[in-house]
Formats: sequence, structure tokens, C-alpha cells
Amino acid sequence: MTHTNELAVVTGASTGIGFELAKCAAEDGYDLIIAADEPEIENAAVQLRGLTRNVKVVQADLATLDGVDQLYAATEGRAVNVLFANAGRGLGHGFLDQDFDEALRVVNTNITGTIYLIQKIGRDMRTRNEGKILITGSIAGFMPGAFQAVYNGTKAFIDSFSFALRNELKDTEVTVTCLMPGATETEFFRRADLLDTKVGAGKKDDAAEVAAVGYRAMQHGDGDVVSGWKNKIQSAIANVTPSAMLAEQHRKMAEPGSARK
Ligand SMILES: NC(=O)c1ccc[n+]([C@@H]2O[C@H](COP(=O)([O-])OP(=O)(O)OC[C@H]3O[C@@H](n4cnc5c(N)ncnc54)[C@H](OP(=O)(O)O)[C@@H]3O)[C@@H](O)[C@H]2O)c1
Repeated sequence: MTHTNELAVVTGASTGIGFELAKCAAEDGYDLIIAADEPEIENAAVQLRGLTRNVKVVQADLATLDGVDQLYAATEGRAVNVLFANAGRGLGHGFLDQDFDEALRVVNTNITGTIYLIQKIGRDMRTRNEGKILITGSIAGFMPGAFQAVYNGTKAFIDSFSFALRNELKDTEVTVTCLMPGATETEFFRRADLLDTKVGAGKKDDAAEVAAVGYRAMQHGDGDVVSGWKNKIQSAIANVTPSAMLAEQHRKMAEPGSARK
């Protein structure tokens, strides 16, 4: 319990990596404000209240500016010591076959709402000259995501944005860390309708382990961390592989029906 009376905000904390990040923070004694869009977030709060004293729940659509305003208002002017900007969603199938509103929701959750919240809380951190931001990016940001094109594009944005913001804040005590997981066992693939794909059906990393890696990197103020050695190798190879080849590799993992090939 090293952070009693400090506050952590965790978005997308109802399930998966966000829930595990919230657990790490709760175990370290942080008070929590946890946010997600669906009522499931209340169940997460019940579990987290067994680990730390103060857990406030915000049920809001963080794809909208209003939803983010609602979350920010819930801080009631209290300093946010750590922000876990984690909420995100995927979307499988070919881009031309996707419902555009769903694709827009991916962009608005993963990018618009995320950077709006980071700007609001980041400004307060800069004023206080204190704070840590952990952004959940993805190794998906390194490769053109055939059959998950919009999602991978949003993560390329987020990976890049994270390093840029970190650099802008280098003369302050505010750190920005990007957690880049590979395929991780969460609700993500079901929600994105990717279960019938090789990546959706394949073996994945454990969400608690991924969160622990990100949490540690955030504590150290590292710039980025790719969780898992396989993902480290995959991202290193991606850096030196032509984009067309990466897109073809991604097709093999994410094309509908690829799980049965
Ligand atoms: N799983 C992977 O393989 C993987 C790999 C790399 C990166 N990531 C990233 O990890 C992050 C967490 O995903 P996960 O894998 O843990 O998936 P998950 O289990 O589906 O969790 C996603 C969380 O984000 C919330 N969320 C999504 N859209 C929201 C919205 N519009 N407003 C508010 N909350 C919203 C969900 O809550 P609601 O259900 O209430 O919407 C849920 O709490 C995402 O940014 C994802 O891109 C995942």
C-alpha cells in the first residue's frame, strides 16, 4: 500500500486488461475512478472494493466528448495521479463490409475520446508537474490490419501519439508510457466478431500478466513496453518488413473463417 490517498483513473476497467490494471492500482492503495460504457462496470467495482477503500464508478460512453466530460467531472477537482487510458474496441471483417457507425465508434473510442481525456487530465498534471499516464496501444499499430483495418489504424495513431506527447512533456515530471500488448485473452475478440479467425481462436497472453508488465513500466516512467517475448520479436520483425507483406500476414490471422483453415 504505497499510494494511499492518491487517485487513479482507469478507462475500460470492466473487463480484460483495464480490469487487471485497476486491480494493480487497487492493490497499491490508490483510490479509483473506473469507467466503462456498460453496467458490467458495477461488478468490477464490487471486486475492486475488496482491494482498496474508495472506488467510484462512471458509466459513460467514452466515444463521446460528453461521456469523457462526465468522467472528468467525477474527479471533482481532485488531482489524478495516474491515468490509465485503456478503453478500446476492435472490429473485424473487411472494411467495405463493416457498418460505418461501428467503424466510427472504434475511431471515436480508441482515438477521439482517448486523446480528449488525456488532454484534460494531462493539462492538470502539467500544472502540478506530477503524474503518470499509461496508454494502452498495441503491437497492431505496427502492421496494416487487413480485416481489422480501422482498428490497427487507430492503434498506429495511439502508439505514435504516446511517444509524441511523452517528448512534449520531457522537461516535466509527467511521464507517458505506451503499453503495447499482443493478442490477449479478453472480451476483445468476441466483441469485435473475430472469434472465427486464427487470431481470435488462437492461444493468447494472460490479461493479468499483460497488465502487470504495463503497470511496472508506468511506475518506472518507461516510454513503451511490448508485453511478452513473442510479441517483442514480432514487433522487431514488423519494423523491417514491407507493409504489403505485413498486411498479407495479418490477412492470414484475421480473415473471417481463417480459424477453420
Ligand atoms: N485483447 C487484445 O488482444 C489486445 C491487444 C492489444 C491491445 N489491446 C487493447 O487493450 C485495451 C483493452 O482491451 P481488452 O482486450 O481488455 O478488451 P475488453 O475486455 O473488451 O475491454 C475493453 C474495455 O473498454 C471498454 N470500452 C469499450 N468501448 C467503450 C466506450 N465507448 N466507452 C467506455 N468504455 C468502453 C469496455 O467496456 P464496455 O463493455 O462497457 O464498453 C471494456 O471495459 C483496448 O484499448 C484494446 O485495444 C487489446
